[in-house]
Amino acid sequence: MGMYEKLIAKEATMSVVGLGYVGLPIALAFAKHVKVIGFDINAERVEMMRNHIDPSEELESSDFEGSDISFTSDPEDLKAAQFHIVAVPTPINQSNHPDLVPLLSASRTVGSALKPGDYVVYESTVYPGCTEEDCVPVLEEVSGLKFNQDFKVGYSPERINPGDKVNTIETIVKVVSGSDAESAEAIARTYNLVVKAGTHQASSIKVAEASKIIENTQRDVNIALINELSIIFERVGINTYEVLEAAGTKWNFLKFSPGLVGGHCIGIDPYYLTWKSDKLGYQARVINSGRFVNDAMGAHVGKQVVKRMLAQGRNLLESRILVMGLTFKEDVADIRNTKVVDVIKELQSYNIKVDVVDPYASAKEVDREYGLALKDAPEPGAYDAVILAVAHEPYRAMSEADFSNLMRLDNGVFADLKGLFRGKIHALEYWSL
Ligand SMILES: NC(=O)c1ccc[n+]([C@@H]2O[C@H](COP(=O)([O-])OP(=O)(O)OC[C@H]3O[C@@H](n4cnc5c(N)ncnc54)[C@H](O)[C@@H]3O)[C@@H](O)[C@H]2O)c1
Repeated sequence: MGMYEKLIAKEATMSVVGLGYVGLPIALAFAKHVKVIGFDINAERVEMMRNHIDPSEELESSDFEGSDISFTSDPEDLKAAQFHIVAVPTPINQSNHPDLVPLLSASRTVGSALKPGDYVVYESTVYPGCTEEDCVPVLEEVSGLKFNQDFKVGYSPERINPGDKVNTIETIVKVVSGSDAESAEAIARTYNLVVKAGTHQASSIKVAEASKIIENTQRDVNIALINELSIIFERVGINTYEVLEAAGTKWNFLKFSPGLVGGHCIGIDPYYLTWKSDKLGYQARVINSGRFVNDAMGAHVGKQVVKRMLAQGRNLLESRILVMGLTFKEDVADIRNTKVVDVIKELQSYNIKVDVVDPYASAKEVDREYGLALKDAPEPGAYDAVILAVAHEPYRAMSEADFSNLMRLDNGVFADLKGLFRGKIHALEYWSL
């Protein structure tokens, strides 16, 4: 009996290591078909999941129902599993280099539970080569077993998009790969249990790793181009969205908008690729330039708002600005690597008093992560400028009158980063990227 047959016969158990945005949905999806052990180092999160609460606030309690899953923070429990999926964070450090601490630590945990015949599939986003060159040696060392002889490895990148209820694990084709033909096949069959859209077998683990990293790198570079254009058009004195609308009438013009590139994927993954490229002796110029442009956008936005306030003769030291939205994108609670913080820092560097509101972000987490105090509600009639930083649903429903009510004077500066209210603002001083 192969690994797939054992799993569906429940003669083998699956483990999912790291139960965050990626790990928990995949663990619950599999737990409708096979026996699953969900492992996380964070005992508090494990306790919530035992009570059918998703700490990442993406899933409902009903999503836990009918699942053959047990949650644990005890690494010993992993010894009962034979097919391990690793979905831990892959962040960057202060120098924008890959921080493999969680991934290697999870590999040690899995390594100490590894038995002959086991499978380990990595889902964390990494540079090509990371699975075989960085993770496998840890698995071998800790387990004392031999790669491909005693245990098999695979890589299957995750493509879900937080907050997206349409493109889900079931509906997005999943790239899979294995360390040999047999494992590639077993891993593909296993994922086909939960991915209705099917799987794409990449020819190697490195190809699968690279495929994921270039999806986000391509997006990052394209947005960087539009951001750079918005800086140029700012100087020309024309609106970027109007230019994009005109250019977008050509059939092959790619539709990207300017904006802040934050979050744990697009603003981070390209650094994994450029780091690997550096190691191989090639300095990636296009990708690094894109990162440079996108990372500088928060400060650019802050400066543009200040410039308009000064043009109106406002005294910055007596001014107050309201920033609406802090999460890394619309309609989610996720504040990881949000670039709205860069806008706030830029404004504060002029000693301007900044209030921040967000309908979804947790004030506790914002304080812990950024040392910022989120306000429950804005103060009517208090602000010299309002920055609509994130297009959350309740903000999209607002009107010029609502924004005017927040301003101290009739001609307050209204910065609309997403260009949502273009053509709809008449009395306020309007600016968009
Ligand atoms: N969130 C997304 O939409 C998304 C999409 C595609 C790919 N990815 C990638 O998937 C990976 C996981 O991301 P995420 O968003 O799920 O992260 P996350 O921060 O939501 O969750 C990670 C979980 O792993 C746990 N963890 C950390 N170290 C651990 C360890 N050593 N052992 C066991 N558990 C550990 C944490 O406690 C947390 O619960 C990353 O590589 C990310 O780039 C994420």
